[in-house]
Amino acid sequence: MIKKAVIPAAGFGTRFLPATKAQPKEMLPIIDRPTIQYVVQEAVDSGIEDILIITGKGKRAIEDHFDRNHELETRLEEKEDQLLLDEMRRLSDMANLHYVRQRELNGLGDAIRYARHHVGNEPFAVLLGDTIMDSVIPVTQQLIDTYAQYGGSVIAVEEVPHDKVNRYGIVGGKSLSDRILEINTLVEKPNIQDAPSNLAIAGRYILTPEIFAMLEQTPAGKNNEIQLTDAMLLLLKRENLYAHRIEGKRHDIGNKLDFLKTTVEFALKRPEFADKFRAFLEEILRKE
Ligand code: G1P
Repeated sequence: MIKKAVIPAAGFGTRFLPATKAQPKEMLPIIDRPTIQYVVQEAVDSGIEDILIITGKGKRAIEDHFDRNHELETRLEEKEDQLLLDEMRRLSDMANLHYVRQRELNGLGDAIRYARHHVGNEPFAVLLGDTIMDSVIPVTQQLIDTYAQYGGSVIAVEEVPHDKVNRYGIVGGKSLSDRILEINTLVEKPNIQDAPSNLAIAGRYILTPEIFAMLEQTPAGKNNEIQLTDAMLLLLKRENLYAHRIEGKRHDIGNKLDFLKTTVEFALKRPEFADKFRAFLEEILRKE
């Protein structure tokens, strides 16, 4: 039903400089896979067949990552490393991937505008390229299921501590069930006293194509950028929006502490070295 996804990946990784001076933050690896590979995998696991990645200056490594590398493949063939060879080929076959470059960094809302032509007149998923979800059911699939039930647009949310609401888009609304809210307001990075709740937009969305007309009418907002949250507030006048509390854990890779935690958590799940890594962590903690 939802077959297309858009992955915005154009932003500067200012919170991660200097590591992101010459490489995209979406290419920061969690163990041996760049962040954006986990994001593409989530989309594919949710039934998405076509993905548009919004890139920008300095983001070529993303395209190279999902492209064939014949020289490398020849080398792996010579070494008879079939496992790695299969993995490299799988990478370029994950989905139909397309790219468009955002010309200026004018915010998330502006980045989504670049998808208008590609998406056309159907609902689509948005997955932020610097956010990994760890869940049993892929979070995008959870949103698609909610969309199938309620229609409208569906936004992934999660509770955040009240003193952190100014870092996120925040939604307010009426509970329809323990996971679903009907949204009646949204505000991008509010002050604590203006926040309608502590339910933060978590970087995954199902949007109807009407969002594109709303984006055209959205003036620059927070940080003088076109905010997707502001366009969704306009959309609310025309159609229902639902918030879906995600079942799973959000990892914001652009944040250094989150990045470290994600690396450790994911390493502890990798069978090939989980035991040795756990023993190492216990040992260094004992010495602290
Ligand atoms: C963006 C969105 C915000 C959302 C956040 C989640 O902000 O504008 O509504 O809560 O992603 O990570 P950014 O983190 O890009 O400033």
